[in-house]
Amino acid sequence: MGQSEATVGRWSEATIWLHWLGALLILSALMVGWSAEHLAARDDQPLLFEIHFSIGLLALAVMLARIACRFFQARPDRSQVPPLARFAASTVHLLLYLATFGVLLSGLINFLFLGPVRVFGFVTVPQLFDPEADEWLRALSWYAHVYGWWALTALVLLHAAAAFFHHFVRRDRTLRDFLPGRR
Ligand code: HEM
Ligand code: HEM
Repeated sequence: MGQSEATVGRWSEATIWLHWLGALLILSALMVGWSAEHLAARDDQPLLFEIHFSIGLLALAVMLARIACRFFQARPDRSQVPPLARFAASTVHLLLYLATFGVLLSGLINFLFLGPVRVFGFVTVPQLFDPEADEWLRALSWYAHVYGWWALTALVLLHAAAAFFHHFVRRDRTLRDFLPGRR
């Protein structure tokens, strides 16, 4: 992949905005999906799931744009960070990407078994996969989605704790540099 080798002081404004927009959409998808499944009255479930799928599809689009920025734009210079800390951060970031795309794609596959379902209030998506013929894929995508969002939640908590550790304990610029509009 044509990954940029150039380094700069901090991530590009686009990468930063896409990170926070992606985080907001993923957390909203989580809250709406969980409420739809566990809190809502039966009659309210279809609407809540429509909202869940719509937010989830937007999150998928944002994350694809984010990956493009991640690989094609210059990245911050981390040569001063101790190797162990750099390794820990890279590992958690890689796992975050894997869990995020795992949850998004397993949700999408599971969703394609359900149709016809409406998204964004006006688009009707037909049933593209047959649950009888591909029962294994439906079960696999469902389990991947459910266990995946648990794993993603745990990783996000760890990741946010690390960001607060940088900010409040180490008192360095990691979090501040990652806020939009701070040049
Ligand atoms: C769904 C929620 C979130 C996801 C999926 C997520 C994912 C990521 C990923 C994958 C990176 C690595 C950047 C890269 O190497 O491409 C990153 C960076 C970062 N995230 Fe998050 N994040 C989330 C929420 C948060 C929250 C809640 C905070 C703060 C409280 C936060 C603070 C940061 C900071 C400060 C960086 C920059 C780290 C650096 O410069 O090395 N993130 N995030
Ligand atoms: C990162 C974003 C997402 C998160 C955090 C998430 C989370 C959830 C949660 C919490 C549930 C309820 C299941 C449970 O509580 O055990 C759920 C169900 C579901 N989600 Fe997602 N989801 C995301 C993205 C998506 C996307 C993009 C789609 C497809 C467009 C999708 C499709 C589904 C489907 C089909 C179900 C099951 C609905 C049913 O039981 O009929 N999700 N999701």
